[in-house]
Amino acid sequence: MSAFLWGSATAAYQCEGAWNEDGKGQSNWDVFCHSEKNSINPATGDTASDHYHRFEEDLNLMAAGGQNAYRFSIAWTRIIPNGTGVVNPEGIAHYNAVIDACLARGIEPVVTLYHYDLPESLFVAGGWENRRTSDAFCAYAKACFNAFGDRVRTWFTVNEPNYDTLCCYGIGNYPPNIKDLSRRWRAMYHMLLASAKAVTAFREGAYQGMIGLVSDSYAIEAHSDTPDYQEAKRLADLFYNRSVNDVAVLGQLPTELIDKLRSEGQILDYLLPGDQEILAAGKVDMLGINAYDRMLVKPCTTSQTSLSTNNTGTADSSNETNIAGWFSVDEDPTTQKNAWGMELYPKSIYTLLHQLNDRYPNLVFMITENGVGYRDQLVDGQVHDTYRVDFLKGFVNWTLKAREEGCDVRGYFVWSTMDLYSWINGYAKRYGLVYVDYNDNCRRIPKDSYYWYKDTIAAWNQKEGR
Ligand code: BG6
Repeated sequence: MSAFLWGSATAAYQCEGAWNEDGKGQSNWDVFCHSEKNSINPATGDTASDHYHRFEEDLNLMAAGGQNAYRFSIAWTRIIPNGTGVVNPEGIAHYNAVIDACLARGIEPVVTLYHYDLPESLFVAGGWENRRTSDAFCAYAKACFNAFGDRVRTWFTVNEPNYDTLCCYGIGNYPPNIKDLSRRWRAMYHMLLASAKAVTAFREGAYQGMIGLVSDSYAIEAHSDTPDYQEAKRLADLFYNRSVNDVAVLGQLPTELIDKLRSEGQILDYLLPGDQEILAAGKVDMLGINAYDRMLVKPCTTSQTSLSTNNTGTADSSNETNIAGWFSVDEDPTTQKNAWGMELYPKSIYTLLHQLNDRYPNLVFMITENGVGYRDQLVDGQVHDTYRVDFLKGFVNWTLKAREEGCDVRGYFVWSTMDLYSWINGYAKRYGLVYVDYNDNCRRIPKDSYYWYKDTIAAWNQKEGR
């Protein structure tokens, strides 16, 4: 059996920088971050962590830290700058260099094709609300399989169809900054369709390896077990988890979801004849799970949907989720939270893995992201992020326990490899195992968590006799 993957993860827009180099086209995030709409923390990814120019240094640190896998995303705009049409050889050359640099260090490249950054030309044509984007994505995926499929064995199509579209069309903090959930369901459907088309293209091309989708899935819990709380849990599971995972894993949109949306008067004219076959053919080989927190829910008591998120890490801002007719997100005053209001609750991964394993028996899982944001401080050349070590240690231990109990987890990736741009939150919210000193030419400084992770991997290898 191949080795368990111990790695860390990044996404192109968040770390690469080089936003207009080597023939790269503009993405919706380039345009948004350069616009006045980017007002909460007006930072951009223009330079980000400068990973585009420093990937070898970053990979050296990963290798020295014992990591045997690197999950990164490809910027669509580097491969096909206008979204459709001509492939940019410089973009191909860049990722060839990244992949080869991984392999030269014994690091398995784990590639995500889409992590939030959409070519601007497609974005202005309606983005994911436009079905044609799913075909454009499939053509882009094929270009990637064709160029990199001889060396990449682990692929993910789309990162977080749920959370991404919720921010784009529910909370409204990501471009196109809309607050209309009916548009969200349309966009998300097209993302899932795009993923299924790409999975089929992967199989038709007879590439080696596995392909999956990355889902931000949640353990759904509640303070009470009364029928109204049980119903809130069922609806939250449908809203966050099954709406994505049933499609990716079982190849079908849940009938309960279709019925629920229709009961709200939504016009589901985007469900076309023939789609069921596309979804059924595009079932994934594995599910990537981005694990941060659980969803504690309660019955929704408001008649208005309201969604907000804390992008400042201050008490002036709050997280609120009331989905009228569905559920509300509850709070547990006894659990610890970070400054952005995220619960620090490692056991959630154990509950989630079992919930998913019960629903999708024998499914292969990979924890594609797990991490926590803090305003880390560099003191005397060191970062003592013991809070992050505690958080990650808890998640690793609970993940391994679920694995021992039969959940087929094949890898675990810390978010993030190094500090990077945190969407809307700017650069103050840091997740990296490695500190990036933005005031000193993006100098890299491994944090305590980096060394903890290194020791954890070494202990695992010793136990496994590797
Ligand atoms: C995940 C995303 O949802 O969460 C990452 O895949 C993101 O891209 C991470 O950075 C942390 O979220 P945030 O908003 O705090 O950066």
